[in-house]
Amino acid sequence: MKRVDDFRLQLGKHELVPITIGGMGVDISTADLALEAARLGGIGHISDAMVKTVSDRRYNTKFVKEKLAIYKYNVLNEDKAAVKFDIGRLVEATRLHVAGTMERKQGSGLILINCMEKLTMNAPKETLRARMRAALDSGIDGITLAAGLHLGSFALIEDHPRFRDAKLGIIVSSVRALQLFLKKSSRTNRFPDYIVVEGPLAGGHLGFGLDWAKYDLATIVAEVIAYLKEAQLDIPVIPAGGIFTGSDATAFLENGAAAVQVATRFTVTDECGLPNDVKQEYFKANEDDIVVNEISPTGYPMRMIKSSPAIGDGIRPNCEAYGYLLDANGKCSYVTAYNREVAAHPGARKVSVMDKTCLCTHMRNFDLWTCGQLTYRLKDTTHRLADGSYQMLSAEHVFHDYQFSTDNKVALPVAALA
Ligand SMILES: Cc1cc2nc3c(=O)[nH]c(=O)nc-3n(C[C@H](O)[C@H](O)[C@H](O)COP(=O)(O)O)c2cc1C
Repeated sequence: MKRVDDFRLQLGKHELVPITIGGMGVDISTADLALEAARLGGIGHISDAMVKTVSDRRYNTKFVKEKLAIYKYNVLNEDKAAVKFDIGRLVEATRLHVAGTMERKQGSGLILINCMEKLTMNAPKETLRARMRAALDSGIDGITLAAGLHLGSFALIEDHPRFRDAKLGIIVSSVRALQLFLKKSSRTNRFPDYIVVEGPLAGGHLGFGLDWAKYDLATIVAEVIAYLKEAQLDIPVIPAGGIFTGSDATAFLENGAAAVQVATRFTVTDECGLPNDVKQEYFKANEDDIVVNEISPTGYPMRMIKSSPAIGDGIRPNCEAYGYLLDANGKCSYVTAYNREVAAHPGARKVSVMDKTCLCTHMRNFDLWTCGQLTYRLKDTTHRLADGSYQMLSAEHVFHDYQFSTDNKVALPVAALA
């Protein structure tokens, strides 16, 4: 019987354990988590979502305070169009985050950065260009383009000296999205080095509507592999979403996938950036606690634990400090929804906003609780402690469980001493 360790992912000159830990925004997939994946011979992701916040937390900078000081005059203004990112500061923060990670890298694996197009930052093209170029300048092994079609993203870095040597990949949820991307990006005479196919059970934003349950990862992966074969394109395909055991992963590898991308099982590891009490919420969640809703201002549906404090909260938008979701016209659908509620409840000290959430503030505070559909199985991957809480896992333990397990088994960690 085969297991994941019987396979290898060949990416250029790199021979890798075919396990990628997916990017999880705003420092949920921390540098420590990504570094473990690389040390163990696989692929780890950091994310550049809200990179100024991450830099302030990790590198003692004051980027957020500084931006707020500049735009403080606008805090009570309903119109956020004036609030812009200073590109130089954005580059500085990205460099600190990426270089600070890469200089600690050990082992034969790779560290990539997850770059979401939907972080439009009140100047989509300029900020995305700056983010990707700063990551390449700072030695990242490669970039995974996420949350968007990225039709113009290759062109933004085409003249960068590392454009042809860095590993560049894209996340898609359909053959159609892949075709559009390949058509546009082929103008740069470069194909992606890998394609992540994310299915409907994934965490974070989904490339599906509320009818996500009608779709199936294995079917989409088979369609993508068939299309690439027909087009005579030899690009590794990496399925993601709901791959919970080593056997799940092996089944994809036996059917033509080059590697798998996983995330949910790593949300309850020591190296994951979520606070410990939030990790316990992930352990505790039952299947009917997990919902897909449309409250993300990105416009993509998102999966969350339904008791998340971010649902229904009516916090005042804080674009002056953050502002990552402001579109090219300086608008965010949460700001619009918040202003509507304030106007409808004159004099109220606090409003509730049910249809949208302030993604920046809640991601910053780790209380959005986005999760994969199979989060409800996490409790079966560890021990229950005497106080009723669940024992945390190490990233190495989970990685090795994917790499070596068979028969749909999940190896439990060595029980912690009481
Ligand atoms: C907590 C959490 C946060 C995530 N955030 C992001 C993100 O910022 N960008 C992204 O492209 N994917 C994100 N994802 C998706 C993962 O990278 C990954 O592709 C997917 O969750 C894999 O499925 P699994 O969680 O069932 O293993 C997130 C997933 C989780 C669980």
